[in-house]
Amino acid sequence: MTTLLVTGAAGFIGSNFVRYWLGTHPGDRVVALDALTYAGCRENLADIEAGITFVHGDIRDRDRIESLLREHRVDVVVNFAAESHNSLAIIRPGDFFSTNVMGTQALLEAARTVGVARFHQISTCEVYGDMDLDDPGAFTEDSPYLPRTPYNAAKAGSDHAVRAYGYTYGLPITITNCSNNYGPFQFPEKVIPLFVTRALQGESLPLYASTKNRREWLHVIDHCRAIEAVLERGTVGETYHVGSGIEADIETIADMILGELGLPASLKTIVPDRPSHDRRYLLDSSKLRTALGWEPRISFADGMKATIGWYRDNESWWRPLIGRSPVTETAWQS
Ligand SMILES: NC(=O)c1ccc[n+]([C@@H]2O[C@H](COP(=O)([O-])OP(=O)(O)OC[C@H]3O[C@@H](n4cnc5c(N)ncnc54)[C@H](O)[C@@H]3O)[C@@H](O)[C@H]2O)c1
Repeated sequence: MTTLLVTGAAGFIGSNFVRYWLGTHPGDRVVALDALTYAGCRENLADIEAGITFVHGDIRDRDRIESLLREHRVDVVVNFAAESHNSLAIIRPGDFFSTNVMGTQALLEAARTVGVARFHQISTCEVYGDMDLDDPGAFTEDSPYLPRTPYNAAKAGSDHAVRAYGYTYGLPITITNCSNNYGPFQFPEKVIPLFVTRALQGESLPLYASTKNRREWLHVIDHCRAIEAVLERGTVGETYHVGSGIEADIETIADMILGELGLPASLKTIVPDRPSHDRRYLLDSSKLRTALGWEPRISFADGMKATIGWYRDNESWWRPLIGRSPVTETAWQS
C-alpha cells in the first residue's frame, strides 16, 4: 500500500487525478491537501471524499506539511498546487511567485526533512515560452526555459527548485511538463469551460484578437495516466513531456463549442490580447511514449464532445462558480 500526498487536490487536474488514482489503485491511501483558494472547490471531491483524507492547508506552511508527512507516513508527494491562471497573474503576480515558487520550496524542504520515496512536480509547456506559429519543431526536455509571463516564470521557478533539491539533497524527484488540459471540473475561467458556460447562458465568447494563436490539447484523464506511468515506471531525476500533438486555435475551439451546442457564430466577439500572450507551445512527448509506453487514448473530437456534454449536464456545479474568478479577460484594458 502506498500513501500519496496530493496537493492542489481540490483543483481541476488534482481532483481528476485523485479520482483516477483511487479507481486504479484501490488499496492506496490519499491525503488530499488544498488551500481552497477561489479556484479550489472541495465539491470536486464530493463523490470520493469518504475514501480520502482531506486537509484544508497551504503548501507554504512547511511545519504543517512536515507534520502531515510524518503523521500519514506519506510515500509519494504529487504537487499540483499552484496559482494557475495566466490572466490573473498579470494583475496579481506576487501570489504566483509566493505559492508556485516559495510554496513548492516549502514542500520540498518538508519532503527532504522527513524523507519520501518520490516527489513529483506537475509542470507546464508554458515554461519554454513563445513559439512561432510556423515553427516546424517542438520543445524537448532539453529546450531552454524562456518564460515571458508571471505564471510561466513562477512555474519555471518551481521546476528549478525541484531539480535543485534533486541534485543537491538527492531528493528522488520527477517532473512532467504537460500541454493544455481540458475535461470535467475545470474552473470556468479557463478558455474551454469559459466558452462552454458562457455559450450555455447565451452570452458572447471573448476571443483574443490573435485568434490563430493555438495550444496543444490533452484530455485530463490522459494526463492522469501519464503521471501514473511516471510514478510507476519513470526514472528518478528525469523530466517527461506529456502532450497529444493535437493543436487547435482559439477560433476552432469556439466553433467546436458553438457547433456542438447548436448556437450561432455571431456569439464570437474579439477582445484585446492579454499582455505577452504567447502564440503557441508544442511539446515533443516522444520520450514518455518510447520509454514508458504512454500514449493518449481520448481523441480531441470525442473528448471535447464529452466535456461540452459534462458542462451541459452539470450546471449545478458551475453555476455557483460564475463570477468567483478575480479577473475578467478585459482587466488590462483600463
Ligand atoms: N490546466 C492546465 O491546462 C495545465 C497544464 C499543465 C500544467 N498544469 C499545472 O497543473 C497544476 C494544476 O492545474 P489546474 O489546472 O488543476 O489548476 P487549478 O487552479 O484548477 O487548481 C489549483 C489548486 O491549487 C490550490 N492551491 C493554490 N494555492 C495553494 C497553496 N498555496 N496551497 C495549497 N493549495 C493551493 C487551489 O485551491 C486549487 O484547488 C498546476 O500546477 C498547473 O500549473 C495545468
